[in-house]
Amino acid sequence: MTSYTPTRRPRADRHPAISYDEILDSDSRLVPASLREQDTPLIGSGSVPVSNYLDPAYFADEVKYLWPRVWQVACREEEIPNTADFVLYENVGLSLIVSRQSDGSIKALHNSCLHRGRRLVNEGGCKARFTCPYHGLTWRNDGAAHANPIAFDFPQWSQGTPPLPEARVETWGGWVFVNCDPGAPSLASVLGPMVDHFSPWQPEQRYIAVHVRKTVAANWKLTAEAFMESHHAPTTHPQILPYMTDVNSQYDAICELVTRQFSAQLIPSPLSGRAYSEEEIVTTMLGVGSRLKGAVGEAALAIPEGSTARQHVSQVMRGILNAEDGQDYAGFCDAEMVDALLYNLFPHMSFWGGAMPSLNYVWRPNGMDPATSIMDVYMLRRVPPSGRPKPAVRVDVPVDETFASACERSGMSAGLAKVLDQDMTNLPQVQQGLHASATGMVQFSAYTEMRLRHLHAHIDALIADGKARA
Ligand code: FES
Ligand SMILES: [Fe+2]
Repeated sequence: MTSYTPTRRPRADRHPAISYDEILDSDSRLVPASLREQDTPLIGSGSVPVSNYLDPAYFADEVKYLWPRVWQVACREEEIPNTADFVLYENVGLSLIVSRQSDGSIKALHNSCLHRGRRLVNEGGCKARFTCPYHGLTWRNDGAAHANPIAFDFPQWSQGTPPLPEARVETWGGWVFVNCDPGAPSLASVLGPMVDHFSPWQPEQRYIAVHVRKTVAANWKLTAEAFMESHHAPTTHPQILPYMTDVNSQYDAICELVTRQFSAQLIPSPLSGRAYSEEEIVTTMLGVGSRLKGAVGEAALAIPEGSTARQHVSQVMRGILNAEDGQDYAGFCDAEMVDALLYNLFPHMSFWGGAMPSLNYVWRPNGMDPATSIMDVYMLRRVPPSGRPKPAVRVDVPVDETFASACERSGMSAGLAKVLDQDMTNLPQVQQGLHASATGMVQFSAYTEMRLRHLHAHIDALIADGKARA
């Protein structure tokens, strides 16, 4: 029986337990350079006012100066596979018809009739033309006007009924992004090195196996922030302590708008309080449930002599995924097979890297309500050789229901639902607690909560820039 013994390298600004980079040293494969890079700008230790979450005026500034200028995930390409397929993407008053064109490209048309403003559609579907139900003006799905039954009475449109205005559309990794700012930098330039980091993991070769949309009784930033650091895990998710690192996770900003965090799996938390044998690490992981449990099952129990729990489960995962989808996983390192590698694109998206089935989160306000939010959870699996499966139908979970209650309908594993429900339990309490704050401020830690600080700093900068231009 081998035992896990942490090495310690004290550093002033980090937890003294083994670092993520040191964990990579014992990987059974060559680790990609992208996982070794560390770039952690220290962006201060100042406090953040609770009004950032609670004040309707701050929310109104976000609506006016943040959301119209950022790239936002509208859907996956697989949700609009055929010509004229469209989804309706809505966020803080924005309403876009995201439609597949006959040449395979995608357009995003503002869902507002140019006559008197009626919404043209209320839900997604497949339409080559959009007829306004009010007076019958009609546009093609490429935005061009098709018919205007009352054109004789519109001298202002003597040259013809104008086309529907468009937002910008760009794609990456099978995701469709929209942006209402004609002057915004390209999506690729915003993603920066993240594009190369994800290239071996082929997010575009994946399909939606699970899609759950949860309404949360908390401001959208609070919901996002619940997934932007790992040091809440020992108290919020104590069941994962024996097999997941937390206070010694790694946090980086790899370019201006992309941050990431790495947490190792099959390594105990430094706060677990005792040593674990390699066998215990695996049996605990299988016992309490996790993303990994659903993938590797009982096959992970027998650890070969000389192997660690981490190396063994990685190897089991390579075999199971290969049998499922035919992909050769031999070259992917242990970290790519089991770790939590979360990349966030400002302001509201999280994409899990690695070779295993990937989690993805998208957070946004719930309509125009600063006090509630929507969280989309996607589990993407690799497309099998037999062909691309239909994307899973989205399952909506209302504010007063749990992820666990939707497992059967959505296909989400019980272990993942439990972890998400634990996170959800905190959020309404944070929302209410902020109202009761005596200081009017929240405090972020300097390193571990650097990504939260980054989120607020960039929102503040966009608001200030927008006001300066106004
Ligand atoms: S409002 Fe659309 S046709 Fe009149
Ligand atoms: Fe959590």
